[in-house]
Amino acid sequence: MNKILTSLLSLGVAASAALAANSAITAVKVANVEDAAVWSNAKFSDVTLYPQTAIEMNDKKANELTENAKAKKAQVAAVYDGKNMALMVKWADGSKDLQSGYASTTYSDGFAVQFAGATAKPQPLPYIGMGSVDRPVVVHLQKANEKVYEPNGNKDVGNQINRQQTGVFGQELAEFDAKVASLAVTDYERIFVGEGFRSLTEVKDGSVKSNSSMVYGTNGWSGILTRPLKDAYVNLSGTVPVSIAVWDGSKMGRNGLKNLSSWIAINLDGQKPNAAMVSDLTTDSKGDATKGKAALEANGCNGCHQMNAADPKSFMAPSLKNVGGYSTAAYLRESILKPSAVVVPGYNRNAHSNTPWYNLEKGKRISTMTDYSHLDKATVEDIVAYLKTLKAEVE
Ligand code: HEC
Repeated sequence: MNKILTSLLSLGVAASAALAANSAITAVKVANVEDAAVWSNAKFSDVTLYPQTAIEMNDKKANELTENAKAKKAQVAAVYDGKNMALMVKWADGSKDLQSGYASTTYSDGFAVQFAGATAKPQPLPYIGMGSVDRPVVVHLQKANEKVYEPNGNKDVGNQINRQQTGVFGQELAEFDAKVASLAVTDYERIFVGEGFRSLTEVKDGSVKSNSSMVYGTNGWSGILTRPLKDAYVNLSGTVPVSIAVWDGSKMGRNGLKNLSSWIAINLDGQKPNAAMVSDLTTDSKGDATKGKAALEANGCNGCHQMNAADPKSFMAPSLKNVGGYSTAAYLRESILKPSAVVVPGYNRNAHSNTPWYNLEKGKRISTMTDYSHLDKATVEDIVAYLKTLKAEVE
């Protein structure tokens, strides 16, 4: 818990100014981002977070709870000073779910802020959520937790020992409990870097000095993340692309089971914005979505992909039912023209051995999706415009 949020609660919540879904957000320059007063007149913008539904989880109950999941609105404000940038994210959540104890069926609410890592060329942006090859991301994750029973001493709460199964009792069990209490995880804050699916790696060497926290109030959660403008992974200036994710513990949200925004442009006030990036992230596709739907069907895309919640589920390819919500037009265009540029790895091959989503060629993952680079430019744009319409309604 950081002090900012505690004192913020006494300041009251600043009014939220709704902007058009895709507008760039301005980060206000302040003397010190750690001064709680900076948030009292910060301007909040609405950001929509879509259910990440590319792949179903191997968990019947979680799938039932998230069947036809709706999009969520969050309010985001940003500030920066000479050294650090801070974001505040607020979102409604009807129940306060904390990770606690050693029950592996308890899931917590949480949020994450993702930054595009420093690359030689800032564009194209990394794949949303996990980065992509040569396009790293840094993900800051904060989960809501009570003291988490952590018997290993390495802060890894993913692999907990059930005290009932320690095989000890009496004085020995009391000693075990005392040891665990001293090792308990009290703040579940994590930082990851990733360059593609299943490559997210926790940064534990202290090379990123961030501070995040979350507080539950009458309107749901407020979270703050503060991180340096510059470190080994990022160099934030001009326009900063970020993406926000939130988890709902009551819906068994965990790992990929979350709501995620597309990349959002945050302009550091007083600095020269990256006009090309802002335009990419705020301009709608120029294609014709109606023609795009017809072209998509004529090209058999829906033979492999589920397009809408009403369509039958398909294990052949990722569901595209929310792809328009969390993907940029640039990513969708690339997916059609160069399917192997970013490969969504798919289901466990033992369970779905007839439908691998990629094959290995000389160690490289090659998508099983046909390459559609023979389509003319206008048709591709029409399909992109249609894909951008595929997203759940806001709850
Ligand atoms: C033969 C089956 C097949 C067909 C036909 C097909 N795809 Fe795919 N598609 C896949 C597979 C498998 C993946 C996952 C591997 C990858 O990332 O390329 C994928 C990935 C995608 C993605 C990325 C999804 C994500 O969650 O990031 C998009 C977008 C996409 N396809 C759009 C299309 C469009 C548009 C068409 C038609 C022009 C099409 N696909 C035709 C199999 C197919």
